[in-house]
Amino acid sequence: MEKILEVRDLRVRFPVFGGVLLRKIAEVKAVDGLSFDLFKGETLGLVGESGCGKSTVGRAIVNILHAMSYGVEISGEILYHHAGKSVNLASLSRSQMRPYRSAIQMIFQDPYSSLNPRMTVSQIVGEPLKIHADYSASERRDKVVWLLEKVGLTGEHAARYPHEFSGGQRQRIGIARALSTNPEIVIADEPVSALDVSIQAQVVNLMQDLQEEFNLSYIFIAHDLSVVRHISDRIAVMYLGNIVELGPGESVYKHPLHPYSQALLSAVPRPDPLATHEERIRLVGDVPNPIRKPSGCSFHTRCPIARPSCSEEDPALEMKGDRAVACPWTDGNADS
Ligand SMILES: Nc1ncnc2c1ncn2[C@@H]1O[C@H](COP(=O)(O)OP(=O)(O)OP(=O)(O)O)[C@@H](O)[C@H]1O
Ligand SMILES: [Mg+2]
Repeated sequence: MEKILEVRDLRVRFPVFGGVLLRKIAEVKAVDGLSFDLFKGETLGLVGESGCGKSTVGRAIVNILHAMSYGVEISGEILYHHAGKSVNLASLSRSQMRPYRSAIQMIFQDPYSSLNPRMTVSQIVGEPLKIHADYSASERRDKVVWLLEKVGLTGEHAARYPHEFSGGQRQRIGIARALSTNPEIVIADEPVSALDVSIQAQVVNLMQDLQEEFNLSYIFIAHDLSVVRHISDRIAVMYLGNIVELGPGESVYKHPLHPYSQALLSAVPRPDPLATHEERIRLVGDVPNPIRKPSGCSFHTRCPIARPSCSEEDPALEMKGDRAVACPWTDGNADS
């Protein structure tokens, strides 16, 4: 399979300012040495509790962190492979990033706040076309109608405003906007979390159809493992800025190896009859503050199988069976 994106040792630190002089007094290690590959046409599910850095990873890839937060520090590489060349997106300035913006698009969680209420659907969906392509006004109109039809809306919706639509329809508009620039990679940051459960599957199905039609690569961010399970070829589980487990979606879901993945999964009611016999692992305590990340394995403070050495050694991802796991105390036999 062809790699389209390679994230290598990505670190993102947000400064915390304080005192009367508002000096930097601490930093949030939102992403702390994270690496993964994204293959052409695949969906990588990225899951973890609130605050573990999922959105920050997405924003780093589309290179909007500097514009969003003053003083943010980013290191590592985000290699985008395109037309036989590789470019490190993490090293690009705002203007250098421009040629790549159309190729890597983001869909956001909240379809209510991510669409400008004063713009018509036609303006919202057509806006990226103004920046990225030399379309005439009529070509743009045609492309907008074509895009609306692709996401299950019609040309008649083009003149309306976001408030006239339901949540699911608004997310379709957001998807049409993201697709308008013919992207190769779409980062979907909890695209269905704000929608009714009955609507979630429709939007996920639409995204899968579009992925097939346009050969898109997705990074699909979610809290809810049951959402990513069906759409993900592979799943990466994040904890406090790192990936703790990464492997084939179905196998990570059915037989998680890392104690954190197991805990995350046991929090979700599973229809799998075998799973009901498994002991439920409960997470104790809250997620630690990323300003004061625990030493060693950052999960050791909440881990049911932690040993004394876990507070000293930070385990790297190691291949065990069909996946990579950052815990030396799990066994790699995924079928056990
Ligand atoms: N602009 C910012 N300035 C300072 N800290 C930030 C900023 N953005 C994120 N953080 C912090 O970085 C950490 C990771 O945040 P992020 O939003 O990436 O997590 P997340 O996994 O997407 O969470 P959620 O599931 O709630 O969306 C959190 O501790 C958050 O408070
Ligand atoms: Mg988020």
